[in-house]
Amino acid sequence: MNSSDIFSVEINQTTQSRLPDTDIQNPVFGTVFSDHMLTCDYMDGKWQTPKIEPYGEISISPAAKVFHYGQAIFEGMKAYRDKDGGVWLFRPEENFERFNKSSARLAIPEVPREVFMDGLRELVKLDKGWVPEGYGNSLYIRPFVFASQTGVSAAPAMNYKFMILLCPVKSYYTGDVKVLIAEHYSRAANGGVGAAKAAGNYGAQFYPTNLAKEKGYQQIIWTDDCSHQYLEEAGTMNLFFRINNTLITAPVSERILDGITRKSLIDIAKDLGLSVEIRKLTVNELLEAQSDGSLKEIFGAGTAAVVSPVSGFGYRDKHYELAETESSYALLLKEKLMNIQWNIDEDKFGWRLKVE
Ligand SMILES: Cc1ncc(COP(=O)(O)O)c(C=O)c1O
Repeated sequence: MNSSDIFSVEINQTTQSRLPDTDIQNPVFGTVFSDHMLTCDYMDGKWQTPKIEPYGEISISPAAKVFHYGQAIFEGMKAYRDKDGGVWLFRPEENFERFNKSSARLAIPEVPREVFMDGLRELVKLDKGWVPEGYGNSLYIRPFVFASQTGVSAAPAMNYKFMILLCPVKSYYTGDVKVLIAEHYSRAANGGVGAAKAAGNYGAQFYPTNLAKEKGYQQIIWTDDCSHQYLEEAGTMNLFFRINNTLITAPVSERILDGITRKSLIDIAKDLGLSVEIRKLTVNELLEAQSDGSLKEIFGAGTAAVVSPVSGFGYRDKHYELAETESSYALLLKEKLMNIQWNIDEDKFGWRLKVE
């Protein structure tokens, strides 16, 4: 028996697909789920056989450690349908590796490659009818793992559950995004879990983000926790700043998530001959660039929205509106990336993986 036999996925297919009764072209983001889900339990010191079964509720003890100690991490990725019906993943190995890096930081056992990658492909293949048609529409994929062992004692769990859910999503238009630069609250600290996709990182942002919303801002630009001078990332996006014709993005660190969209945009921008600097940018430099007119664009980059242009930012009770830019780098890079994801342009970087 080779290692992939150990993990070959058991499939229990639904007899009643919900697809004919679901409008997958028009869902509210993250609220519609496909017919099936993948589950795989960790117990007795090893991962058990992964199972694909009809999507539905799971039963879990109220004493499961995830509720008490927050051992939970997740990923976010997408499957894309091209105009000929082909279904593609984008750099899934990157998500797999980041998933296990996040797990390691939270003392969660790493998921074997066969369970994650083969399970994902089997699940997407089975539910390929749920990948919406149309440029910009996609199937959002949510792999996650949590501590399922019962017991209110603060120590890593012995049992875990790994799952993958699929949600059809439509092209994500973020609208006119205004961001507030953080001065008090912090998303992450050195030595903390900022570089992991730990569930708690997101829950901890909701309160400060609500305060920003009360001031008319949709998102926060997180700064470093010591000086609040270095511009780091947004809630679910890495950030790019265009000063004159140079794109600047913060180096990833133990406080910043190593975004796959960010690293893809850096490669595309360099390939287009644009000047890209991976370096720290301070709030003062941003304010100077805004006042002398050299700040041309700010945009976020992440799987959900792809690229999200920022129209203005707030800092110390003052609002700064960005001037309109002709020939936006944000829109150029967005189109180039989407054309690779939707199998329109040549995949010169080798990023696409055909599911079926
Ligand atoms: C905190 C944070 N930063 C950045 C990103 C962007 O990462 P990616 O491009 O891999 O989606 C995400 C989304 O996953 C995120 O949650």
